[in-house]
Amino acid sequence: VSALPAEIIRKKRDGDRLTPAELKSFIAAYLDGGVADYQMSAFLMAVYFRGMDEEETAAFTDVMLNSGSVVDLSAVPGIKVDKHSTGGVGDKVSLILAPIVAACGVPVPMISGRGLGHTGGTLDKLESITGFRTNLSLKEYKEVLAATGCVMIGQTAEIAPADKKMYALRDVTGTVESIPLIAGSIMSKKLAEGIDALVLDVKTGRGAFMASRERSRELAQTLIRVGKRFGKTTTALITDMSQPLGHAVGNWVEVAESFDCLRGKEVPDLMEVTYALSALMLRSGGKAVTIAEGINRSKDAVQSGRALAKFREVVGRQGGNVEFIDHPHTYPVCKHIIHVKSPANGFVGECDALAIGFASILIGAGRATTDDAIDPKAGIMLLKKCGDRVAKDETLATILTDRAETAADAQERVARAYTIAPDAPKPVNLIHEMIDEHGVHEW
Ligand code: URA
Repeated sequence: VSALPAEIIRKKRDGDRLTPAELKSFIAAYLDGGVADYQMSAFLMAVYFRGMDEEETAAFTDVMLNSGSVVDLSAVPGIKVDKHSTGGVGDKVSLILAPIVAACGVPVPMISGRGLGHTGGTLDKLESITGFRTNLSLKEYKEVLAATGCVMIGQTAEIAPADKKMYALRDVTGTVESIPLIAGSIMSKKLAEGIDALVLDVKTGRGAFMASRERSRELAQTLIRVGKRFGKTTTALITDMSQPLGHAVGNWVEVAESFDCLRGKEVPDLMEVTYALSALMLRSGGKAVTIAEGINRSKDAVQSGRALAKFREVVGRQGGNVEFIDHPHTYPVCKHIIHVKSPANGFVGECDALAIGFASILIGAGRATTDDAIDPKAGIMLLKKCGDRVAKDETLATILTDRAETAADAQERVARAYTIAPDAPKPVNLIHEMIDEHGVHEW
């Protein structure tokens, strides 16, 4: 006899291990409508509290992966490599790195997600480029990759559809911060896209789903083990997400900051993480022997303008309005611009990524419920970041929104996200360590 949805939920609630057959029937029924959103939400919360062991996590990933098809990219020459982040605030690294790596000759087939919890999503950011299509068919996906060496899409009915549906629920039900759920979500997308190797940016700190170093390392090791089981070489960096990356938090504002970086503007923290990850991708893709060589090649792709040209080419191929890349100031602007001022003289001690992430949802840059539409132009510009000297009443951050009704709340949240200290704080390490199947390595 097959188990009822409530029996499977109860089993996980009570801390038992689900069999691959149970996971398969529950998730298949969810896609068919036989399991309702409220039952899946209860299941996700049970997994959040009870976890999954390694075997169960692998079986869960396998079910998520096989909810759709696995793309065969063997017709595209080269070692195909992708990168995925476990989720951050202001984390627009994928937008900068994919064109850099493709410009260096490593094909990048990228399947990304939307905003999740307090973090932003590459898909929402890409869709802020008017006309940009993230829902390509598999045929188009392969064609764009073959023509440009880079393609950026979201899950479709064909690729990891179970993740697409569960991800949207997790976003708004407080069930994101779970190692097996994150592993199943990330690895099902990545294993489906036809890659040969994967590089992961595992975030740590207040704005990360795993705030502690230990849990971040555990997440990285789980992701690497799942990758290995499915025959994909997976390398991870553990990077800081206690404050947002770069200055822009939102969708269009992050895309605009990414163009700026591809034009050579130095946004130090953002580019340090980008170059580290692109170097690992070039090494996995056989275009650099050492990390230093990978970093140099990546920098050259930016300085020569090849990476920006690649981004333009991909945007054009996927239907996006290239005008906005060339003239970002022509993009629509928000009705309200609110400045958050420093309460004192001193130094920025903290700029809390979690608080900024939630404030960005309030102003329309993220979703509070699954049906919410994103306002692509809404965002927060962080003019000051940790370690910066500030004067009393100097602007720390600027909020861009059309939602007058949430502006005061957002302003308060952003103000509270900052702490102003009399002395400069100790600089934090941006990249903590590198992990692969052989172990943990110093960076
Ligand atoms: N990114 C994903 O794609 N899924 C998660 O669960 C977290 C980050």
